[in-house]
Amino acid sequence: MALELLVPTVAAVPVALPGCPEACGSVTVPYPFGFRPGCFHKGFNLTCDETRHPPKLFLSDDVEVDAISLANSTVRVQSKMVKNINGSWSAGVKDGSVLAMSPEHNFFVVIGCDLIASLIDGPQNASYVSVSATRCDNSSAPDLSDTSCSGVGCCRTTIAWGLPTYEVQVKDLDQQVDDTTPTYGGAFIVDREWFSGTNVGAMQNSTFAHTKVTKVPTVLQWWLDLERDYGLVVSDFSSPSGWRCISLNSFAFIVAVSAGSGAPPSYPVRCNCSDGYEGNPYILHGCQDIDECKQPVHPCMHGRCINMPGTYRCSAIISLPGLITVISITVGLALLSSLLGVAKISNKLKQRRAKKLRHKFFMRNHGLLLQQSISSSKDIAERTRIFCLEELEQSTNNFDQNRILGGGGHGTVYKGILSDQHIVAIKKAKIVVQREINQFINEVVILSQTNHRNVVKLFGCCLETEVPLLVYEFISNGTLSFHLHGQTENPLSWKDRLRIALETARAIAYLHSAATISVYHRDIKSANILLTDTLTSKLSDFGASRSIELDETGILTAVQGTYGYLDPEYYYTGRLTEKSDVYSFGVILAELLTRVTPVFSSHSSEGTSLASHVVSLIRDNRFLDILDGQIVEEGGTEDAEVVSRLVEACLSLKGEERPTMRQVETILQDVQSSKAHYNGQTISVNQSALKGQPWNKNKGGEGTRIYSMENEFIQSSEIPR
Ligand SMILES: *[C@@H]1O[C@H](CO)[C@@H](O)[C@H](O)[C@H]1NC(C)=O
Ligand SMILES: *[C@@H]1O[C@H](CO)[C@@H](O)[C@H](O)[C@H]1NC(C)=O
Ligand SMILES: *[C@@H]1O[C@H](CO)[C@@H](O)[C@H](O)[C@H]1NC(C)=O
Repeated sequence: MALELLVPTVAAVPVALPGCPEACGSVTVPYPFGFRPGCFHKGFNLTCDETRHPPKLFLSDDVEVDAISLANSTVRVQSKMVKNINGSWSAGVKDGSVLAMSPEHNFFVVIGCDLIASLIDGPQNASYVSVSATRCDNSSAPDLSDTSCSGVGCCRTTIAWGLPTYEVQVKDLDQQVDDTTPTYGGAFIVDREWFSGTNVGAMQNSTFAHTKVTKVPTVLQWWLDLERDYGLVVSDFSSPSGWRCISLNSFAFIVAVSAGSGAPPSYPVRCNCSDGYEGNPYILHGCQDIDECKQPVHPCMHGRCINMPGTYRCSAIISLPGLITVISITVGLALLSSLLGVAKISNKLKQRRAKKLRHKFFMRNHGLLLQQSISSSKDIAERTRIFCLEELEQSTNNFDQNRILGGGGHGTVYKGILSDQHIVAIKKAKIVVQREINQFINEVVILSQTNHRNVVKLFGCCLETEVPLLVYEFISNGTLSFHLHGQTENPLSWKDRLRIALETARAIAYLHSAATISVYHRDIKSANILLTDTLTSKLSDFGASRSIELDETGILTAVQGTYGYLDPEYYYTGRLTEKSDVYSFGVILAELLTRVTPVFSSHSSEGTSLASHVVSLIRDNRFLDILDGQIVEEGGTEDAEVVSRLVEACLSLKGEERPTMRQVETILQDVQSSKAHYNGQTISVNQSALKGQPWNKNKGGEGTRIYSMENEFIQSSEIPR
């Protein structure tokens, strides 16, 4: 196996970023690795000690780097042998690093007599990753003349998981821990290729109890992660995986990375240059065409070799008269084309290429599938149209900056005027990630099956661009978030707020329980509630939504949502239920009552969550402290208190204790028609079915524990989107 660097055969093939050193001493340092500021990708920084002669490259304080391979995605380092009975082995990287020991490139080796040595995953979990035993005939000194290391004086085994660190435990063979064993030479994790060579013999020269050898080469593997390293890895439909690295003519592929008991990276990938190209796929224009015709072994058996991008051609040997014919034909064609007008032809070609591209995108965007699913139901077909690109370009004045209405979680929204003077909102994704495209398609499929007056209407979509464009009804009056937090002049009246809450609850309840599938929105927030001129609420942005068969409950998904609205239970377990939407809706209710943003700064701390703040005030009967003064002025205090109890129920940390959206809807309806009254502790509604619901009970005592969990949740780091 070649561990040497990808040595460029042509000097022009870039190794590092422009202006960055390509080597430290004798070690080539290809990007994404680097040691100068601005020369490495996040997490790939190394240290070059240039005070030494020659300079040496380090992974961490004490761990020297021998070689970095792009082709194998490996780094070879000098790692320490473990000389203690209970020691630990480290690759010099921390948990969560982009590097780990490569099980496929290394052996676990123990030198000594009558020992059993174990490699263990972490001190706490203590699962065995590799176990190796040795015996000696004459149990005084290991004999390393047998370089196969087959268990006599020396044993080697493979390793189950690649981790950055391990514990090593050595016992004598009758399982007694004996730290006086004189014949323990050491345990190490070593490059298979290096070890199987003559190097074992070299180690023989020292008696192992006092060996001079303290370090051996170990191969670490590295990888990129689709999510973490997005930008270096981008979407590309011509690649089999749908992804490539930043260089054109490269492709990405998923690699197996085991993380033992730790959390594995979500999408570990590597990149190669495509066939016929070479270089560094992690650099812009890093993969360059190989000129096959200049290779020492001429690829063409007969005829002339013609290099072409990514490939080559062998032309037949042409005789002199033939050559003349070829030349005259070429000249004739040239004349002809100049007669016809070269510009015209190339224009035509361009148009054809553009058309082809549009067709390709249409296919990639599951156009046919969508077309089929739309045309399969007359009802849906009547409501959903497939637009062509020209029409949408015209309607938005070529996606003019002045037409931008806003940027949603999934893209930019433009105002468009169709040829029939219909005003529409057109959504376009910002970046091309297959996941985003899938979200778009998801939205089309969900919305095309949805018909509710409080859910934004989808007119259709266009699938001919790299990212699909969605065409919606135009909702003129901005988002609920803007009305509550963005402007102060015309604050929404309590009556309007109650109605908006009810309409939104209806829309969500409809999604949860309509027809054969239920839809979990997953990103309920005031910024996704649009308001019409008459302040009618329209739920929008279904990019993250999931449709769920009715008998399917609690599906596991990658957590998605918006900070401040995200259900802590879902965040912790990844288990999605309809109650996650109920939680987010509870936050909206709290916003409607307080006009405080879901995450706000208070004098005591930054980034306080409205949800936990409101619930603690409600439980302390201090809710009026935070109630919007305008509601009090309008005489809505009593209603607001009922709603506050509903907020408390919706924001229960346990999903099962939250009401369903239908129940929420019923209560809001009763509040609106003044049938519900606040009696200090519970909501009393004149519907006995709702009485005795878990969320209706007073559960004051649990407060402290719940809050510490909630705080932990609030402090926990980034949440996607
Ligand atoms: C890489 O950067 C991190 C964070 O800045 C730093 O802690 C670490 O020591 C650096 N590693 C090397 C090898 O320079
Ligand atoms: C990537 O390139 C390496 C080295 O050329 C090769 O061994 C490996 O098989 C390639 N991987 C794929 C998926 O083509
Ligand atoms: C090694 O670890 C074993 C098991 O944890 C323990 O019983 C023993 O005392 C340790 N020996 C030494 C020398 O630390």
